[in-house]
Amino acid sequence: MITSGTRFGSDCDTDDQLSIDPMTLLRRWLPGPDDPPPLMALATCGRDGYPRVRHVLLSEADDTAVYFHTDTRSSKVAELADRPRASIAIAWPEVGRQLVAHGDVHRAPDDALRQTYSRRSRYLQLLAWLNDEQLVGLSAGERRRRWARFDETHPHLDAPATWTGFGIALRELTFWRGDPDGPSQRVRFVRTADDWKSEVLPG
Ligand SMILES: Cc1cc2nc3c(=O)[nH]c(=O)nc-3n(C[C@H](O)[C@H](O)[C@H](O)COP(=O)(O)O)c2cc1C
Repeated sequence: MITSGTRFGSDCDTDDQLSIDPMTLLRRWLPGPDDPPPLMALATCGRDGYPRVRHVLLSEADDTAVYFHTDTRSSKVAELADRPRASIAIAWPEVGRQLVAHGDVHRAPDDALRQTYSRRSRYLQLLAWLNDEQLVGLSAGERRRRWARFDETHPHLDAPATWTGFGIALRELTFWRGDPDGPSQRVRFVRTADDWKSEVLPG
């Protein structure tokens, strides 16, 4: 089945929380490469002006962007073609942490597509091949039969042509930390021309 990570990474010292590079801090908060990828709420701008949100797996993060992978035929891809901007939120309730961020969206490099697909669970690899308009209209029994047949006859799968990836180049990140003995606190980073501006916020 679809699974998402519940693990979390390390943090920085309180003394460094305003001066640390926020993408470095984000990568520290993420689980390690051998853990399941974390679930990220991803909001795009709907064509009717209402925001749209859904969860996707965060595939990876580098110095400038976070990456996710999806189906070229999905609504989010059409919305991003119209307006390449997105917001994300990730929560780690076990340790009282949340990250919210937003930025400009670009296509992820093609060379990473295969590798990311190969790291997805077998269930998600099958979904990427099978979960289309044609399958959705069938009865539950027929859908399961087709799934089982495809699974059996395709022991090794490469990414389908509909598999694509996007990077969100983050321009603002807000890290929320809970405190069991006191109030929560947020630190917000906003990208400037050549660096980051940071401030501590309540809430
Ligand atoms: C735990 C979980 C993980 C998911 N991961 C992804 C993902 O990595 N990529 C993706 O496109 N959809 C993923 N989905 C499905 C999306 O939430 C969404 O239903 C689908 O992408 C269609 O969204 P759209 O019509 O808004 O484009 C996931 C759903 C769940 C529940």
